[in-house]
Formats: sequence, structure tokens, C-alpha cells
Amino acid sequence: MIEYFSEKTDFYKQHKPSELLSAYGSPLYVYNEDILRERARQIKNFVNMPNFTVSYSVKANCNLHILKILKEEGLHADAMSEGEIFVTEQAGYEKDRIFFVCNNVSAEEMKYAVDRGIMVSVDSLSQLELYGKNFPKTKVAVRINPGIGAGHHKKVVTAGEATKFGINIDKANDVIRIAEKYNLKIAGLNQHIGSFIMTSTEYIKSVKELLQLSSLFEDIEFLDFGGGFGIPYNKQQGQQPLDLKQFGKELKDVLTSWQKEKKKNILFKCEPGRFVVAESSILLGKVYAKKHNYNKIYIGTDIGFSVLIRHAMYGAHHDIEIYRNDKPVKNGAYEFVNIAGNICESGDILAEERQLPVILEDDIIGVMDAGAYGYSMSSNYNNRLRPAEVLIKNDGGLQVIRKRETLEDLIKGF
Ligand code: LLP
Repeated sequence: MIEYFSEKTDFYKQHKPSELLSAYGSPLYVYNEDILRERARQIKNFVNMPNFTVSYSVKANCNLHILKILKEEGLHADAMSEGEIFVTEQAGYEKDRIFFVCNNVSAEEMKYAVDRGIMVSVDSLSQLELYGKNFPKTKVAVRINPGIGAGHHKKVVTAGEATKFGINIDKANDVIRIAEKYNLKIAGLNQHIGSFIMTSTEYIKSVKELLQLSSLFEDIEFLDFGGGFGIPYNKQQGQQPLDLKQFGKELKDVLTSWQKEKKKNILFKCEPGRFVVAESSILLGKVYAKKHNYNKIYIGTDIGFSVLIRHAMYGAHHDIEIYRNDKPVKNGAYEFVNIAGNICESGDILAEERQLPVILEDDIIGVMDAGAYGYSMSSNYNNRLRPAEVLIKNDGGLQVIRKRETLEDLIKGF
């Protein structure tokens, strides 16, 4: 028997999956405000030090209303593009609470941040040159590759030997030389070793590397250690959450002893995305078909990879719940199935050979933990419409936080 996350957390409150789909269309991203705020608070208290701040990494989910809630919870923001800066400012974040951690951008895109007084982090020596030429005598941050990477898939490991990100840790002297040439102050060093870490080991190692490197930079005001904190996507198999308290304690010990030794009081930051938003959303969809192709059973749904690409892209696992007449289906017969979407590619699979209660046409399927890199990576492939996003508020009320697209949206740019 599988455990239902939605029941355990009272995710839908008084609402029923079928009613939500009738009201807002299928598929549908449903968010729960209680869970969102709880995760924001947990991570805000990650490291209990007055000079430690947490920036939410906007790329995980850039819904304006979600950004507003996270701002209310006191999180700062890390943005990756003009568009992410734009929506973050629209949500009310002040310039000194936004950090532009970009990669391979034009001078114009840097200027967009500089004009707004937003700190830029550059990601290579050539981007530092470009920044210096265009904005001499200013402050800037640089992204370091500490040589240690981590993550759930090689595509999301963002430091170490096989990644496009950051300036190699042994190139610090070149950074200093370019900074002198343009009269730049290196105000910050940042890194992000990768996405989805469930233990502290690699992260703490990389923190120590950055702390050590920082002594070469006399103008340093802050160090940002990146995000990457994972969530238990395999709850149905008993996966446990990351021990954030223990992790935070370890990190605090490292930071406080460094502060004591160096007698320096700078700002420390981290920038989690997934941890904050992933568990706050269930993606609902409908089952329209079931078939046996050779020796495999395919369940045909409207959740294609244009809606959620994580399995197609990384083989990522999401727990799945089945609802029939709005009741969770958990007892009775089980079978191994492949859950497919409605996109014209064989890779359009959401779950492979997954043992689930026998699924029937017209069942509703719920994809758990869909709040991070779900909507934000969705597309119009096959000219499919992006779904709506609806928020179940703490008082049980419903708020449409993004409308479902219409066919007219598809021809707006022509
Ligand atoms: N900071 C930087 C510079 C990043 O590149 C990222 C994520 C984060 C922070 C936040 O990482 P998080 O805490 O969310 O792990 N689409 C992939 C994940 C890509 C992460 C990209 N960078 C997925 O669905 O698993």
C-alpha cells in the first residue's frame, strides 16, 4: 500500500482534485501555501547567525505570487536573467536583496542589473573583462568553481571538472589582475556546486575552499555558498528529508570558527531553490488511455514533458498518486506501468515501470513535489498550452496565481 502525501499533509484541504480540474483545466499546478511558508521558514532558520541570509533561487519557480509570499517570509532572491530580475522587482524585492548570478551574458544584460543597483556576479575571466570595460570603478562579485561538484544528474552538477560554470579556484590571481586593471572591487565570491544534495559533506568541503580563497580578496564583503539542498522525492519508498538542522549546525561551526580566526565580519549567504518550492505543489492531470504495447503497459495522460520535463531530461523520480472519484486509490491490485504524456516523442515518459495501483481511464493522477523546475521549465512544444497555477491559501481559499494559456496566446508573436 502506498502512502499518500496529499492525505498526510491535508494538501487539498476542502477541495477535490476533480473540482480543481473542472474549474481551472487539466493539467494543473496546485500549490499549498502552508507548505510553501513552512519550507521558507525552515530554510530561513538554516544557519542561526545574524550575518547569514538566504536568497531564494528564482529559477526554481518564478511565479510572481510565490515570490511575494517568499518575500513576506524574509527571503532575498538570486536571479539569473533580466526576466528573473524583472519579475523579482515586480514582486517587491529591493535592489540590495537581489543578486544577479548570470552566465555568458551581454554587456547590455549586465547593464540592466547595474542600472538598478543590483550586484552582478560574473562567471568567467572574459565576463570580468567585459564587466570591467563597461563598468569600471564599481563593485562586482565573481563565481568560483571550487573543484567540488554534486547533484542528482551530471546535467545539474555545476562545479568540478566537467561544467561550464565558474572561474577555476586556481585563477584567483587573474581575477585580481583584471580587477586592478579596471579599478573594480571584488565585493563577493559565490559558488553553487550543484543541485540536489542530501548530505552536507561536499557542500561543507566547498565552503571551506571558498573561505580559504577569500583571504586573497581584501575588499570582500560577502560569500555566497549556493543552493542545492534536496527534498525526498521518494517518500513512497520511505526516503527521509535532509537533516537541515544538523547541516545548519555544521555550517555554523565552520563559519564561526573562521570568523574568530580571521577576525572578519562579512556576510554569508546561500541560495536554495528546490528546497523552498518543490514540495508545495502537486501537478494534477487526467488519464485518457491505457494500452499494452508488446510487454509494457502505457498509461496515457495529459502530463507531457511540455508541462513537466524532469523525467525526460534527467530521469528524475516523482511519486505518483491516483485518485478515483476523488478518493486515493491505494489498496487492491498493483501493476507495473509506464506513465506517458501527450507529446509526439517516445521520450515523453513521466515514470517508467512504476508499480502502482491498477490505473483506469478517467482516473486523475497527481505528480508529487512538482513545485521546483516544473512550471519554470515548461514549454509550448507541440503548440500545447501551459497550464494554470492555483494556490490553496492557508484559509482554504483558492487563488489563481497564473491563468491557463489560451490558443490566442500561441499566435501573439506572429
Ligand atoms: N544558485 C545557482 C547559481 C544555481 O545555478 C542554482 C540551480 C541554484 C542556486 C538553486 O539550486 P537548487 O537549490 O534549486 O538545487 N532543473 C534541474 C535543477 C537545475 C538547477 C540549476 N541551478 C532539476 O529539475 O533538477
